[in-house]
Amino acid sequence: MRKLLYVFIVVLIFTNCKQEEATVPTGLVTEKAMVVSAREEASKIGTEIIKKGGNAFDAMVATELSLAVAYPFAGNLGGGGFMVYRKNNGEVGALDYREKAPLAAHKDMYLDSLGNVIPKMSTSGGTASGVPGTVAGVMAVHEKFGKLPLNDIMEPIIALAKKGVVVTKKQAKRLKGTRNRFIEVNGESTKFGQLFKEGDTIKYPELAKTLEIIMTEGKDGFYKGEVAQKLATYIQEHGGLITEEDMAKYEAKWRDPIVFDYKELKIISMSPPSSGGVTMNQIFKMMEPYDVAKFGHNSAQTVHLFTEASRRAYADRNYYLGDPDFVDIPYDMLLNDKYLKDRMSNFSFDKATLSSEVSHGDVQIYESMETTHYSIVDNEGNAVSATTTLNGGYGSKLYIEELGFFMNNEMDDFSSKPGVSNMFGLIGAEANSIAPEKRMLSSMSPTIVEKDDKLYMVVGTPGGSTIITAVAQTILDVYEFNLSMQDAVNAPRFHHQWLPDQIIFEPDGFSSDLIEGLKSKGYIINEKRTPIIGKVDAIRVLSNGHLEGGADKRGDDSAFGF
Ligand code: GLY
Repeated sequence: MRKLLYVFIVVLIFTNCKQEEATVPTGLVTEKAMVVSAREEASKIGTEIIKKGGNAFDAMVATELSLAVAYPFAGNLGGGGFMVYRKNNGEVGALDYREKAPLAAHKDMYLDSLGNVIPKMSTSGGTASGVPGTVAGVMAVHEKFGKLPLNDIMEPIIALAKKGVVVTKKQAKRLKGTRNRFIEVNGESTKFGQLFKEGDTIKYPELAKTLEIIMTEGKDGFYKGEVAQKLATYIQEHGGLITEEDMAKYEAKWRDPIVFDYKELKIISMSPPSSGGVTMNQIFKMMEPYDVAKFGHNSAQTVHLFTEASRRAYADRNYYLGDPDFVDIPYDMLLNDKYLKDRMSNFSFDKATLSSEVSHGDVQIYESMETTHYSIVDNEGNAVSATTTLNGGYGSKLYIEELGFFMNNEMDDFSSKPGVSNMFGLIGAEANSIAPEKRMLSSMSPTIVEKDDKLYMVVGTPGGSTIITAVAQTILDVYEFNLSMQDAVNAPRFHHQWLPDQIIFEPDGFSSDLIEGLKSKGYIINEKRTPIIGKVDAIRVLSNGHLEGGADKRGDDSAFGF
């Protein structure tokens, strides 16, 4: 009898706890520290900073600023982002260095006299830029947590800007594809009006000079004096609103991250003005009652359940979320267990729910796909997850020649006219309307996961509105389906965001049987649009404490460590 009880208890434990590491790691494995980012140069410099005695926060400053040099497509001084951290003592926190609307911005600023949205005004050139937050962000991180002097962190980056960065094949293609837009916005003589080929080296002496000023003067070197004056003048010459006063007033903000449990995991992600944490919390909680591991990786049941949870979560996201300094967000309702259970009460594995049957049906989003994420774990066990962006690839395409960087087109992440689609087919809600000094809603979801109170994963991705689903699927792929970190990053992904009421699948990753099966349940599949979904850079802590990197093969992404 006692033996039987023992067997019962063992079976119970094994059925309720997921087994650790059924799979061998397939990504880079290191013993102590790792940086995974969109470019080898940035991952290397971040790792070197840790080797020199810096911590994950010093490496964050280094990686973020290196990406501004090595990956101007999304890395930036002229944009903004979010960072979530977990210190080795378990303390967690988050930093919001999202761009803000200029003081002169107003709700109708992108509308003509008839109230119609003016094409390109929120996406291209000086009118599209919000007040940049990146430099304030890295300086706030350095001031609060940094160990190394700023000079030690920034000198290698300034050296890289002077020496130059070699153009990759993917970068050459992007530069060529955007060249006409660079010329249209900045004129014929703009630096990126040249045709760069794979293997060319691009040097950034002007950017090196801007970085030198920041290294010497800190945050004020960017937000006051010569740099702020040149930035404001260039923006205004191109029709934009940013003034020196806007620059001087910008502050990054420490915020409480969104923290929730999913089965044995504790998930820590970004709070508003990013929608990432809230939306992911809703998706995971709606899925939690199901034995997802049994359904199988990317099986019809998994796609069906994930899609229905996403549909409901995105409907709330688009309606309720905005800058918490301006909008009251009903967290108590949105994250309440009973509310989320009720949201799934009409879910059935037999058929698709129609988005028109899920409330707040007038609102949809379609954000730009171009952003970048990096993940860091240091040799003391501190972890940093950060996502940074210019919004579109090369942002507004406005390149401030004298300062050596692109400006963001983040104003397009506001809803220019609540309830009406803009040029991307993007429709937003009142909670995300434009106001002076307000931060625009984001999907960026830098995330850290704990298991058994220990660091388990650091994860994030670019991908606009698909960020949230890509991060959630990567966590599920490792935890529920025992994929290695690298395999989870490589795994094909799918996406549904309530409206438009359709699923998109990455190319070649899903069988026609699965797709036909979903169609027979009433799902609309967008077979014309099969973009890549996310470019995830992640780190998993293995049971022996070593680290496995997942650097997305969809880009030039690279893991480095020791
Ligand atoms: N600009 C993309 C995002 O913030 O989600």
